[in-house]
Amino acid sequence: MTIPGAWSRTARAAMLLGDDGMLHPTIFAEMSALAASTGSINLGQGFPDESGPREVLDAACRAIADGHNQYPPGMGVAVLRAAIADHQQRFYGMPVDPGTQVLVTAGATEALAATLLALLEPGDEVVTLEPFYDAYAAIIGLAGAVHRTVRLRAPDFQPDLDELVDAVTDRTRVILVNTPHNPTGSVLPAETLQLIVELAHRHDAIIVTDEVYEHLTYDVAHVPVATVPVARERTVTISSGGKTFNTTGWKVGWLVAPPELLGPIVAVKQYLTYVNGAPFQPAIAVGLGLPRERFDAIALDLRIKRDILAAGLSAAGFGVTLPQAGYFVIADAAPLGFDDAAALCRRLPDLAGVVGVPVTAFVHPEHHGDYRSLVRFAFCKRIDVLETASAQLAGLSART
Ligand SMILES: Cc1ncc(COP(=O)(O)O)c(C=O)c1O
Repeated sequence: MTIPGAWSRTARAAMLLGDDGMLHPTIFAEMSALAASTGSINLGQGFPDESGPREVLDAACRAIADGHNQYPPGMGVAVLRAAIADHQQRFYGMPVDPGTQVLVTAGATEALAATLLALLEPGDEVVTLEPFYDAYAAIIGLAGAVHRTVRLRAPDFQPDLDELVDAVTDRTRVILVNTPHNPTGSVLPAETLQLIVELAHRHDAIIVTDEVYEHLTYDVAHVPVATVPVARERTVTISSGGKTFNTTGWKVGWLVAPPELLGPIVAVKQYLTYVNGAPFQPAIAVGLGLPRERFDAIALDLRIKRDILAAGLSAAGFGVTLPQAGYFVIADAAPLGFDDAAALCRRLPDLAGVVGVPVTAFVHPEHHGDYRSLVRFAFCKRIDVLETASAQLAGLSART
């Protein structure tokens, strides 16, 4: 796409435009197009190919039929705000006032955008883990802020605590934490969460946590950062119904924050989308109210899928670390003789009829070297799809 002077400086910076003034397609778009044009199995993008809980889908149909089709209230429908507050109490023992501490948003993405745009001044620093969900860099760029990162390295993808201490300074306005983590599937342990809270206090920073994979953990408990002692007063907790209930297209997300932080965020959110998803909001409330066993079953189903794909990738010759959570497994192509995962991803449709994305898509260009041979594959797909992908990958080493 040519952009003859149409872009503001912040937008150019945020979108990482090339010096040629061109907006290059993201690797996600490139890989999805490749999957479509080659008829390959698309394990690149993280969306499920099965429907979620019947009750949730039925509730949305009922809400449409019952006429819930106009603008909902700016803060979100009361029944969903109450369900979010009940959910935080039931799963995490976290008391939340639905009237003053909850805001419903257009997915976690809008919650992140409204929060960062409300809290950041140009030049403020934001510390995130790296690799990072790609929207973080873009939103930080749009806010005119500076992105600092702490690297997660294979095989366990946990941050080095000394590096974390060094990254957070008096210039840090926000520590943006993503646990469980996309793309690595790691979950931050209590010790790391405590350090983050200590650092936020020491440097007077705000903690923003992205917990969209909170219910998709395998053998490890999710601990919201806000439940760590003295974290609550300076923490914005963000989540979404998309991943838990296989409703990524509904874009119903939310945030929980103390009223002093919520006010400015609501003000910004009001002029982003204003509101969204009127009939989907009460449906997500139904989902959040499902019994605990249903949440356990959702995680178990994904854990089985994780194991199938991880076994397939190992058998094909990739180096694999089992993720503790989320939708994705990271596979190292170096044992197969590939140092450049982006090049492998471009060839993988021909070699195996499968698409993944290189982990460098989640990393600042100057840090690509650390992640060059890693590919992210999604396992939130039907079992037969994962089995077929595994079978197709099986002979990979003979074909390379
Ligand atoms: C870490 C992380 N945060 C946020 C999102 C976006 O969530 P939503 O679709 O609710 O905006 C995703 C989706 O992939 C994600 O992986």
